[in-house]
Amino acid sequence: METTDYLVLGSGIAGLSFALRAASHGQVMVVTKRTGNDAATGWAQGGVAAVLSEGDSFEQHASDTHDAGAGLCHERAVDLCVRGAPAAIQWLNEVGTRFSRTPEGSLDLGREGGHSMRRVVHAGDLTGQEIQRALLLAVREHPNITLREWHMGVDLITHSQFGGPDRCVGAYIFDEVQGRIEAVTARATVLATGGAGKVYLYTTNPDVATGDGVAMAYRAGAWLGNMEFFQFHPTCLFHPSAKSFLISEALRGEGARLCLPNGQPFMAEHHPLGDLAPRDVVARAIDYEMKRTGSEHVSLDITSKPPAFVRERFPGIYEKCKSLGIDITQEPIPVVPAAHYMCGGVTADLDGRSSLPGLWVLGETAFTGLHGANRLASNSLLEGLIFAQRAADALGSQIAALRQQPIPSVPAWEIGSAVASDEAVVVSHNWDELRRTMWNYVGIVRSNSRLERASRRVALLEEEIRDYYWKHLVTRDLLELRNIAAVAQLVISCASARRESRGLHFTIDYPETLEQYARDVAVKRGVSPHLRGAWSQ
Ligand code: SIN
Repeated sequence: METTDYLVLGSGIAGLSFALRAASHGQVMVVTKRTGNDAATGWAQGGVAAVLSEGDSFEQHASDTHDAGAGLCHERAVDLCVRGAPAAIQWLNEVGTRFSRTPEGSLDLGREGGHSMRRVVHAGDLTGQEIQRALLLAVREHPNITLREWHMGVDLITHSQFGGPDRCVGAYIFDEVQGRIEAVTARATVLATGGAGKVYLYTTNPDVATGDGVAMAYRAGAWLGNMEFFQFHPTCLFHPSAKSFLISEALRGEGARLCLPNGQPFMAEHHPLGDLAPRDVVARAIDYEMKRTGSEHVSLDITSKPPAFVRERFPGIYEKCKSLGIDITQEPIPVVPAAHYMCGGVTADLDGRSSLPGLWVLGETAFTGLHGANRLASNSLLEGLIFAQRAADALGSQIAALRQQPIPSVPAWEIGSAVASDEAVVVSHNWDELRRTMWNYVGIVRSNSRLERASRRVALLEEEIRDYYWKHLVTRDLLELRNIAAVAQLVISCASARRESRGLHFTIDYPETLEQYARDVAVKRGVSPHLRGAWSQ
């Protein structure tokens, strides 16, 4: 059994920036299930929203966030993020991130849907990759941080499992290379495992996005919130050889237009902001037009812009599309909506503390209340940065006291009579069935009967997976399957509890937004999802 001050699960912007800040007052172990680079952060194209220009204001950024969030954003979370954004950008600069600049040397600010001003700090369209590069380099060089790659959290360890108080004291970690599970205990355990796009058949997320933190926290008894709000990005590249490739909303910010395959623009008929309407509106409009015309995709056209500008502003998208035979300076890009971002998650207070003592939660895994019913573009890297700093500061002030608390001696992982799997097909089949079920029944447009059907199917799959899990030695695939099944059931049950349409949750059975539902949905193990008031903020 190993012990550290801070055990961080996940190596995206939230986990790495927490590690860097916490390392000034303690020993940090970061575990990540593939390489340090395998996180959704590296795939982010848009950027980090921050008020940095004359004429913009914190009030406007807050107001855009609230408008997108459809009445459910938590005021204080929004306030902390928008006011903390300029300093967070400054910190990223200091860590070594190279953002795009104007010829005069100031930060170049992009625009995206739902933003009333240009305020998106970016590095071309490879923003996440640049941030990830800088953070990972700093983490690898830090003497107080150990990075364990190919290590995955299996389950959280709570002291109550051994007769102590209800407190998280670490996690069982699967070492994929050695094929064994070990206990790591910690003064504080931080879940920053990202989102769960892999719950759906089509997603803009990397393969690692399997909701591991959410599923572990749920099994350990922490409160979760608003899991029904899953954001679908309107524009994922539609091409048989392009798996999960995002076409940034920043293209529409620079004038690209969504068109039907015959070239006819259509967003003006769906929203006064046209192509820059909030993301939920755009995704639903595309879904509607695809169903109406029977087309497999719509098109995004940026050919009205000078080719040199397009190549320089969007180098990643230009090159990727070119490699697939599409010259975006000359022809429209075929696009479809795909699952993109989990707005709900493990409930966290304004310092990233979960409801389970000893457990902290950051980034996409956390439900801080910032995003409400629909996340405003480029607010998520920001959320990761702000709450990582707050959590590290809060823990730094307590670390001496935390070190006085006894750490229980945790028993070794028990494999019982589990045997190596000889039927990997069971895992791959259930993965496929689960993701298809979610895509077909719990997608952009929902209904009571679709949710009921999905719930029945996922419950059956969960039972099968549970049985398989206990009988076989774990593999990463099996752990991920178990986690996406848990997350799928949470999305379905929270969606069933919200009998209205709001933000990202749209159901044909309750198409109206209702005042009495202007509240969060809360759920925990053993307690069905129900509406509750705003979290204590
Ligand atoms: C995008 O570039 O369109 C994605 C930005 C985001 O999801 O915040």
